[in-house]
Amino acid sequence: MKITVITGTEVKGCTYHIKEAFLDVLREGSSITEYVLPRDLPHFCTGCKTCFLKSEELCPHAAYVRPIWNSMLDADLLLFAYPVYALRTTAQMKALLDHLCVHWMVHRPDDRMFRKKAVVLTDAIGWVQGGAQRDVATSLKWLGVSHVKKLGMALMEDVFWTQLSDGRREAIIRRVQGLAARYKEGRPACKSIGVKTLFAITRMMHQGMARKEEPLSADNQYWLDKGWIKL
Ligand SMILES: Cc1cc2nc3c(=O)[nH]c(=O)nc-3n(C[C@H](O)[C@H](O)[C@H](O)COP(=O)(O)O)c2cc1C
Repeated sequence: MKITVITGTEVKGCTYHIKEAFLDVLREGSSITEYVLPRDLPHFCTGCKTCFLKSEELCPHAAYVRPIWNSMLDADLLLFAYPVYALRTTAQMKALLDHLCVHWMVHRPDDRMFRKKAVVLTDAIGWVQGGAQRDVATSLKWLGVSHVKKLGMALMEDVFWTQLSDGRREAIIRRVQGLAARYKEGRPACKSIGVKTLFAITRMMHQGMARKEEPLSADNQYWLDKGWIKL
């Protein structure tokens, strides 16, 4: 199984250990590609909109974004691991999500995403992690990922891995590894009703716009080239 891991912090703390515990279950027989943020994408989206209007290849940060996106496309399983900051995802993770907007259904989705599985693994001192998980899960939905599983680990005792009691660390590892075991078979996801619906709605939108456009926008030219719309 091919796994692409995106970790939303460079600190080798709780997120790192939780992510490693998850991967330990799947390491045998898998090829794992890891990206750590902000190290592997040290830039915010500039808002130039060149990706939407021309090509993502002309993004000023394409050299960073391209390998991450290609690795995501190539993977069977995507793992997003990050701590909760101010009840949301980390800014460096959001910077990656912003760079991937060009591949949302409303722009130029890649159908290789439609049968992919993703796990969103968060950690925080407290239980409230839903907002942080939705930050990534929302993007994954619009990128066309059919299966997104969210798991949040509340550290409760401390924010440093080494300061947690043995019992707390073991409980966290047990929970995370229990989830990882469910992905051992590496089967692709069934294309979900949500993805089919989003695709059908956005297809109608692109079809309607394309008939009025001269010349075609980069988005609609892409849909035409894919054979998803007709003129
Ligand atoms: C800037 C910052 C903001 C944080 N915000 C929250 C928060 O809103 N809710 C929460 O429960 N924990 C919050 N925390 C605690 C982190 O989630 C916790 O330190 C993290 O899970 C530890 O993982 P790490 O060792 O990988 O950094 C915050 C920590 C930092 C550094």
